Amino acid sequence: MRFTALLFDLDGVLVDTAKYHYIAWKALAEELGIPFTLKDNERLKGVSRQRSLDIVLEIGGVDKTPEEREALCTEKNERYLSYIRKMEPEEILPGVREFLTEARRQGYKIALGSASKNARLILDRLELTDLFDAIVDGYMVTQAKPDPEVFALGGRLLGAQPSQCLVFEDSVAGIQAAHAGGMTAVGIGTREDLPEADLVLPGFAGATMEDIEKKLLAISR
Ligand code: BG6
Ligand code: MG
Repeated sequence: MRFTALLFDLDGVLVDTAKYHYIAWKALAEELGIPFTLKDNERLKGVSRQRSLDIVLEIGGVDKTPEEREALCTEKNERYLSYIRKMEPEEILPGVREFLTEARRQGYKIALGSASKNARLILDRLELTDLFDAIVDGYMVTQAKPDPEVFALGGRLLGAQPSQCLVFEDSVAGIQAAHAGGMTAVGIGTREDLPEADLVLPGFAGATMEDIEKKLLAISR
């Protein structure tokens, strides 16, 4: 076993929260008279809440003071939370619970590495918290992905060297963060969207660590 620690992004990897982010950002954008499409929403994936607001405001060519930005972020998050608080374990993406459970049974250490300040609430709602040995969320880091801080901290909390860490990510910035931290990155999505990933999986349904380790070993040879 080459890897001892598995680090998981949350949004888009374990659960599809992008739809709730979209509803909440769109409502805010409409209040501000800014057009906001699903394609625009793609740009917010993996990006911090503050930076997401900057992007929304840029789209509309709207300027706001730091105080106004703070209030807008709070408003967006309140709306987002109204959906998140109602989430059910059925919303876990296919195969995720089985994959985490089996990886734990095999002895891998497991951490969350997420930019979200709502990460703990989401894991609780999905009843996944107990499957994690360590949780790194948006409150614990100062640098956003592609900076490696979130994964470096996760690896340290699991007592693993970067070369022993395998990161699962759905965003380009997250793949870059893993690489910047000296880690291997599995992209969750398509090769077209994640060209820099060491391996790409469409999701966790039917995925096993034996298979992933085997494929990564074949590539590194
Ligand atoms: C990331 C999401 O995981 O978390 C981003 O991909 C989101 O879209 C970011 O903006 C911050 O999330 P939150 O829950 O703290 O607003
Ligand atoms: Mg993500």
